[in-house]
Amino acid sequence: MVKAVVLGAAGGIGQPLALLLKANPLVTELGLFDIVNTPGVAADLSHISTPAKVEGFLPPDDGLKKALAGADIVVIPAGVPRKPGMTRDDLFKINAGIVKDLAAGIATTAPKAFVLVISNPVNSTVPIVAEVFKKFGVFDPKRLFGVTTLDVVRASTFVAEILGDLSLSKDVVVPVVGGHSGVTIVPLLSQSSHPLPAGFAKDSYDTLVNRIQFGGDEVVKAKSGAGSATLSMAYAGAEFAAKIIRAVKGEKGIVAPSYVSVEADAAGGAALTKELGQELAFFSSNVELGTDGVTKIIPLGKITEAEQTLITAALPELVKNIETGVNFIAAAY
Ligand code: NAD
Ligand code: LMR
Repeated sequence: MVKAVVLGAAGGIGQPLALLLKANPLVTELGLFDIVNTPGVAADLSHISTPAKVEGFLPPDDGLKKALAGADIVVIPAGVPRKPGMTRDDLFKINAGIVKDLAAGIATTAPKAFVLVISNPVNSTVPIVAEVFKKFGVFDPKRLFGVTTLDVVRASTFVAEILGDLSLSKDVVVPVVGGHSGVTIVPLLSQSSHPLPAGFAKDSYDTLVNRIQFGGDEVVKAKSGAGSATLSMAYAGAEFAAKIIRAVKGEKGIVAPSYVSVEADAAGGAALTKELGQELAFFSSNVELGTDGVTKIIPLGKITEAEQTLITAALPELVKNIETGVNFIAAAY
């Protein structure tokens, strides 16, 4: 039995994500919470002939608590998206408070759930959840994940495009590490399961890296004021959630990049810190998943000089983003 809960379930990501979770045969219960429209979304999804029982909740009458009761996995896409000209950090002012309150709800109602944070800026909202959980004495670093899967999905797609065969994209695996915004998104193309063509030019490499780092901006611009990536994010979020669920069900050897606390695996975290040459509380790296969440943080391994330069550029930004999240909670409690 697996209960999945979506917080922000009536939104641009929330609705298609809820649809994909409803389509996952391993999900037996689906709780949908938002400040608007969840009864309608739940009624609609509940007619789909898959196992999950669906229920929608709104804030009155302890709706958040009711949605979260018994949750095994909680996915959070609640919050405002970007408009053209904005950075993800510009969302902090509104989304930090939303994520803080939802985290408090999870801490009191479903403290053992696996928590998957989509709300931006992920580099700061994940530390917010961790700090709230610490305040409530329930922080388990193995169970908290920043969802960076969309960067991985984009990297697979763009590499397959370059290789001239989009049908490869489901098999192309490119570790994307660091964080989830601009220069903190670091694709390790040298470790791609499908190498770039021999003689791939330096300027083409730079263009590809830039497209992976700023893929979100491409969508924000194309939607011209109507929001940011929703459908590709729902796909990515459902893929990552499915991996967690399969791992929880006992499947071994599942590895995916995610933005996690370096405390999730002391040895792996220490090896990663050594590679980075500095301490960072959170970093996105490949992690191995098991029944209790993160079983291993997999260090970066062999990377190129160009990738090292990208990592070096990412670090100060990550330090700042993490601090912003931690300070927000320190001031709030
Ligand atoms: P949206 O505005 O379409 O939907 C957000 C939903 O959150 C709305 O339905 C809204 O009512 C709900 N909401 C607001 N406050 C809430 C609260 N306190 N409790 C519960 N629900 C609440 O936005 P969207 O396009 O779905 O994007 C949501 C977030 O996801 C944004 O912050 C966006 O930047 C982020 N995002 C992250 C990634 C990623 O890769 N991690 C990708 C795309 C978007
Ligand atoms: C993305 O990468 O598409 C998301 O983080 C949304 C955004 O603001 O770009």
